[in-house]
Amino acid sequence: MVYLWLRAETKPMEHRAALTPSTCKTLLDRGFKITVERSPERIFDDEEYAKVGCHMVPIGEWRKAPRNAYIVGLKELPEGETDPLEHTHIFFAHCFKNQGGWTDILGRFDAGKGTILDLEFLNDDQGRRVAAFGYHAGFAGAAIGVDNWCHQKLNPGQPLPGYKPFPNEGQLISYIKERLGRAVALNGGELPEVMVMGALGRCGRGATDLARAVGIPEEKIISWDLNETKAGGPFPRILQAEIFVNCIYLNQPIPPFFTKEMLDGERKLSAIVDVSCDTTNPHNPIPVYSINTTFESPVVAVPSKNPLPLDVCSIDHLPTLLPRESSEAFSRDLLPTIINLEKRHESAVWNRAEALFHQKVQAMRDLAI
Ligand SMILES: NC(=O)c1ccc[n+]([C@@H]2O[C@H](COP(=O)([O-])OP(=O)(O)OC[C@H]3O[C@@H](n4cnc5c(N)ncnc54)[C@H](O)[C@@H]3O)[C@@H](O)[C@H]2O)c1
Repeated sequence: MVYLWLRAETKPMEHRAALTPSTCKTLLDRGFKITVERSPERIFDDEEYAKVGCHMVPIGEWRKAPRNAYIVGLKELPEGETDPLEHTHIFFAHCFKNQGGWTDILGRFDAGKGTILDLEFLNDDQGRRVAAFGYHAGFAGAAIGVDNWCHQKLNPGQPLPGYKPFPNEGQLISYIKERLGRAVALNGGELPEVMVMGALGRCGRGATDLARAVGIPEEKIISWDLNETKAGGPFPRILQAEIFVNCIYLNQPIPPFFTKEMLDGERKLSAIVDVSCDTTNPHNPIPVYSINTTFESPVVAVPSKNPLPLDVCSIDHLPTLLPRESSEAFSRDLLPTIINLEKRHESAVWNRAEALFHQKVQAMRDLAI
């Protein structure tokens, strides 16, 4: 029997969950045992988990969980702790790419003989992620782009206020539609054009779906992917769209999509959302800003000689805007792989994840010598 223990997230503003009440129900029906830590932050009420048959416990109890329980979460473990970790944890550990503090966290697992099966590195035989949050990142990012354009019309000169997560997708769409209606009226009845770069990917599909959902007509949704950019940038066409949503997966150096100087000239572009967020990458194809923005302060202004405003949104955890739907989609995609925990050592996905963990622990040990 597989035993899953859903821990409560402790990162501020994190309302998402790796396992939702509906995926828990499917797993319980298959004979899994599931314990869920109560959480006031999670978008799903504790009662929703209790109702489907999960065993409920207080926050942080995972430290005392039976050794055979898989501790499931999304974000990092609480900061500042140093004790050895003995369980197998399934989460986004953010320590396999030498991120800040990577040796500390791997050292805790090494000392406790625990294991990380990192959600970011659960890949199928084709190397594709089995579950990712991309779709809702694009969806939320495009929503902020359209809303920012509306804000520029409705409240000229004022910075875009912060966002709180929306209870569901329907409420986000209604909110944007209402704002768009009023902004378009001030724009002579003209809807803005939304250009999505990397439109064929997960984030790109989310961004185009949002544009459609709020009523942008097909002819005003400009979808570009590798085929349209193969000649190499910069691309003056981007400056002709009011809203630009960058959703590419940058895996090699490419010329910039546009330059700072180009922004001084003629343009309609006034709202950029960099979903890809390659902010500090030397090959960031949008080299006109240098910080990651936040839900509290969603955009940064780009100075230009053209008086039309220009803002960039570069939030790197966009799916948090829609915790319910993004969790449901992620958890649904993850479900078949979770079910394969029943025969984990026959599963290539889990075996690769475990091998990667051991490789990273070895790299950490080598560093210490
Ligand atoms: N900001 C956030 O909250 C957030 C959340 C999730 C993912 N992301 C990031 O978004 C990016 C995209 O993720 P994804 O899951 O959608 O990736 P993906 O691989 O599904 O899609 C990327 C798309 O970009 C296209 N592409 C790559 N290079 C291009 C180029 N030069 N010109 C045009 N198109 C190009 C690809 O063909 C593909 O269709 C990643 O960098 C990911 O880390 C950000």
